[in-house]
Amino acid sequence: MVKNIKIVVGNWKMNPVDLVAAKEIYRAVKKGIRDLKKSVVFVLPPAIFLKDICLLNKNEKRLLIGAQDFFAESEGAFTGQLSLKMEMSSGGTVVLLGHSEKRKLGETDEQIAQKVFLALKNKLKTILCVGEMTRDEHGEYLNFLKNQIINGLMKVNRSLLSDLIIAYEPVWAIGQKETQALSATEMHEMAIFIRKIISDKYGRAQADSLPILYGGSVGINNAESIMKEGGVNGLLVGRESLHPETFVTISQIVDRS
Ligand code: PGA
Repeated sequence: MVKNIKIVVGNWKMNPVDLVAAKEIYRAVKKGIRDLKKSVVFVLPPAIFLKDICLLNKNEKRLLIGAQDFFAESEGAFTGQLSLKMEMSSGGTVVLLGHSEKRKLGETDEQIAQKVFLALKNKLKTILCVGEMTRDEHGEYLNFLKNQIINGLMKVNRSLLSDLIIAYEPVWAIGQKETQALSATEMHEMAIFIRKIISDKYGRAQADSLPILYGGSVGINNAESIMKEGGVNGLLVGRESLHPETFVTISQIVDRS
């Protein structure tokens, strides 16, 4: 596993309800993670708050701000969409792509592949989310996952890999109780599986240096075991990233592990 890279991502989704609350969460996180030694924290607010949060985040090295998605075209007749350039004009340096909640709304592997390519080409830290909907005893879910990874990376050659991060988020484990999240042992198996796919496509060195995150009902009670035994480089946190105290504690656990 990649040594010394630890990442904690806070995916705020469509929260909080206004900018005042967004700034409050951001400020509390910034203050709380001051003493982290090895980790980098990514905060992903809704696009409408990006600029204001980025303005508060000048000169921060351990805290990066980014978007939850963008639209793959650069301009044109695409009502309601925001391009990569528009979103990142706010100063963001990270983007999350292929989240299951976007896939559920109809986002395809092809669209995700194009966005992953554009994001990496523009040197953004690019988190590609993958994960099966359900598990079956015959291991079909492994093929499903493999296809998602291969398809999501279909436009990415080796020279673009340095900013890629893969977040494994089994859909069945998102939005549940911590006890229903993936276990550390299961995560370990999946981390090996994901690295093997990357190794077969790009080579062993690339697989070894790829940061892999776990996401899906991460909380204070499961963060430590997943970090210690799950073979991952960090965690992707949904709901609990809106509670600064909890999110900071999770970040500290990641930093120590
Ligand atoms: P959760 O969300 O931590 O609330 O389960 C994770 C995610 O959807 O990224």
